[in-house]
Amino acid sequence: MSEHFRVQGGARLVGEVSVVGAKNSVLKLMAAALLAEGTTTLTNCPEILDVPLMADVLRGLGCAVDIDHDKVTIVSPPKPNHRADFASMSKLRASVCVLGPLVARCRKAVVALPGGDAIGSRPLDMHQNGLRQLGATTGIEHGCVVAEAENLHGAQIWLDFPSVGATENILMAAVLADGTTVIDNAAREPEIIDICVMLQQMGAKIEGAGTSTLTVHGVQSLQPTEHRVIGDRIVGATWALAAAMTRGDITVLGVDPGHLNLVLEKLRSAGAEVTTVTEPQQGFRVVMDGRPKAVDFVTLPYPGFATDNQPFAVALAAVAEGTSMITENVFEARFRFVEEMMRMGADARTDGHHCVVRGIEKLSGAPVWASDIRAGAGLVLAGLCAEGVTEVWDVFHIDRGYPQFIENLQRLGADVQRVSAPPER
Ligand code: EPU
Repeated sequence: MSEHFRVQGGARLVGEVSVVGAKNSVLKLMAAALLAEGTTTLTNCPEILDVPLMADVLRGLGCAVDIDHDKVTIVSPPKPNHRADFASMSKLRASVCVLGPLVARCRKAVVALPGGDAIGSRPLDMHQNGLRQLGATTGIEHGCVVAEAENLHGAQIWLDFPSVGATENILMAAVLADGTTVIDNAAREPEIIDICVMLQQMGAKIEGAGTSTLTVHGVQSLQPTEHRVIGDRIVGATWALAAAMTRGDITVLGVDPGHLNLVLEKLRSAGAEVTTVTEPQQGFRVVMDGRPKAVDFVTLPYPGFATDNQPFAVALAAVAEGTSMITENVFEARFRFVEEMMRMGADARTDGHHCVVRGIEKLSGAPVWASDIRAGAGLVLAGLCAEGVTEVWDVFHIDRGYPQFIENLQRLGADVQRVSAPPER
C-alpha cells in the first residue's frame, strides 16, 4: 500500500523538538565498525529506514548487527566477507562506504555499485583514485567496484573536490595502511570529524580532523569502541527553516548550532530572531514574526551552505517577500523537485545550476511527489505554507532520513497525517 503525507497548510509551528544522531554519520560509523574485530556500539542513532538497510549490508559481510531503538551494536568477525552484493547495496547510496574498510581489513573488496540517484550522477572516481594511490588496484567489473591490495601504503592524495564519500573511504583505508597518508582538499563536514573521533577512539592516528588536510599515520590494527553519533545538522536545519516559513517559534535541541552557522545567519537576514541554547542540551531557537524576506543561497561543501538544505531554501524563497537566487554547486540534478513546488504555485525558474524564485504570499496545496529525502522534506515545508491540502507522495524517501517526522510536526502544531492509500495517478 502506497503512503502519503497529508499536509493541511496554515499552522504556525511552535514548541520544542529534539534532534538525534545524523544519518550521514551513523551509516559511515557502522561501516567503520568493520575495521576492528569485536563489538562496536553506537548510541544516539536515528530510527530511520537507512539504519536497518545498512545493517543488512553489514550482515552480508559477516557481521552480527542488533538495533535496539537508538543503540546499534555491531559484532565484526575475525574475517569479514569481502563481497557486498547488489541486493543489499542497491537500497542505499551510503553503502559504498564499506569499500575503504573492506580493502583495509580484507585487502580485497567486491562492492556492487548502488546505481544512479535522483539528485544527479554520483561517480566513484575519486574514491578509486585514492585507493590506487594507497597501493590498491581497482576497476569496475560486472557492476561492482573491485579493489585489491597486497599491501596498502601511505600516500599524498589530492582530491579534485572535497567529496565527503571519497574522504571517508580513503580515510578508512589509510588508517590500516603502512606509513603516513596525507589527504589534501579533504571534506570538512562535521560528520567527517565524527568519524575521525570514533577512529581515534579505536586507536587510529589522525591529525587535522575538520580541516582540509587530514594526516593519517597507519597502525597495525584497531579495537572496537563505543561512540555517540553527533546530532543531525540537516534535520536541525529543516526545523529552523520550518520555523521561519510558518512564522513560528521552534527550539531545536540535540544539535550543535555551530554546525548550522550559515543557515542561522541566512535566517537572521530573512528577518528571524535566532538565539543559541545550552540547557538542557545544546541547540538553538528560531522565532519569526512576519513574512520572511528573500535571501540568496549558494550551496558549497562545508562550511558552505549544505546542498542537502537547498530544497528548504527554495521552499523559504517561494513564500518570501522579494526575489531569491539559489545556486546549486554540488549535485547537477538537485533542482528536480522545483517542478513539484511549481505545481503548488511557486514562481520559480531553473537554468542550469541556478534557480530564481519570486516569492508569493501563499502557495496552494497540490499532490506532489518526493524524489529524494530532502526534496520530500522541502515539499512538506512548502505544504505547511500552502492554502488547502498538499499530498506528498513517495514518502519512503523522507522515512529514510527523518525519524518521527510526522509525530514531531504534529507536536509542533502542524495539521499533518500519514495516510495509506493507493496513488491517484
Ligand atoms: N563526486 C565525484 N567523484 C567522486 C565522488 C564525488 O565526481 O568520486 C562528486 C559528486 O558527483 C558530487 C560531489 O562530488 O557532485 C559531492 O559528492 P560527495 O562525494 O561529497 O557526496 P556523497 O558522499 O556521495 C554525501 C551525503 C549527501 C550529501 C553530500 C554532500 C551521505 C550518505 N550522503 O554524499 O547526502 O548531499 O555528501 O554533502 O553522506 C542526503 O543526505 O540526502 C544526501 C544526499
